[in-house]
Amino acid sequence: MKIAVALVCAVIAAMGAAIAFAYSGFYDVSATDQHTRPVYWLLEKTTRASVAARAAAIDVPPLTSAALGERGLRLYDEHCVQCHGAPGVAPSPFALGLLPAPGNLAATAIHWTPAEIFWTVRNGLKMTAMPAWKFRLPEADLWAIVAFVKQLPLISAPEYAALRRLSAPLQPAAVPALQTFDIDAQRGKDALLQYLCLTCHEIPGVIGIQAAVGPSLDRIGTRAFIAGVLPNTPENMIRWLRDPAAVDPRTAMPDLYVTERDARDIAAYLATLR
Ligand code: HEC
Ligand code: HEC
Repeated sequence: MKIAVALVCAVIAAMGAAIAFAYSGFYDVSATDQHTRPVYWLLEKTTRASVAARAAAIDVPPLTSAALGERGLRLYDEHCVQCHGAPGVAPSPFALGLLPAPGNLAATAIHWTPAEIFWTVRNGLKMTAMPAWKFRLPEADLWAIVAFVKQLPLISAPEYAALRRLSAPLQPAAVPALQTFDIDAQRGKDALLQYLCLTCHEIPGVIGIQAAVGPSLDRIGTRAFIAGVLPNTPENMIRWLRDPAAVDPRTAMPDLYVTERDARDIAAYLATLR
């Protein structure tokens, strides 16, 4: 009994200390201040183990075709080089100030399995600037990028420059027909975290910034009109989400490149807010 009371007291004291630490301003959040060695070690090990555990179940398709590698190069050049650089190519200036620093993937390619690289590119890494590409690139393109990243340690700077010059311009990927996907409100909830909706709206049921740049979406499912102009039907909500300015040219809500599938799922989630 005494031990239980002591334990509860210890837990309460630890929680109190953590809250006091959070409010104290003692911790330096600046990106110019590297973590201490133990914290760095902890973050590094946690990331590696988390990625390895989640990548274990992924089936890796054949990655050796030249066409796949070439498409991967184009995609890498479009989406990754700004942060990770390439042989003989520095990352963009903004990326030099990131903490954690985006690694040179020639080293990653040697130590990480294709499944681990795929998982990371698809899902991104929390609390780093590594974005999730799941809602931006189709699965086949993610594998093309993995195929190219695995080749990175073998490519010299002049070879990279030559490949870049020679490879064909990037054509948009073929996307599966909308009818092949069921409407999925839960997926819509996940998707709206990927379109910065919370940076402008308060949205019930979702954790995040919840800033009031735009109106709260509380009970949006019961609202008669969208943005005061469109009758609140599923079709109109999709229209609004995909191109707000086409509905209201003066609106501050931008076109966030929401795909048709994602707009359909987000609209389904918003309809549940009653
Ligand atoms: C906005 C910057 C940014 C962009 C764009 C970006 N990354 Fe990253 N990436 C990061 C950061 C930051 C990390 C985390 C590094 C760490 O935790 O040490 C990271 C980590 C990774 C990792 C984990 C391996 C490692 O060595 O840390 C892989 C793999 C990766 N990125 C691949 C890619 C690929 C492929 C693309 C393009 C589709 C891409 N990244 C685009 C910033 C970026
Ligand atoms: C940069 C800020 C910004 C972002 C990001 C943004 N919105 Fe908006 N949104 C607004 C503003 C401002 C309005 C008010 C528009 C008007 O009335 O013309 C609005 C209006 C709306 C409305 C209509 C609300 C009503 O009261 O009728 C919905 C629904 C909506 N946004 C959903 C979303 C979703 C979902 C996302 C993410 C895909 C999103 N918004 C991202 C700024 C933003």
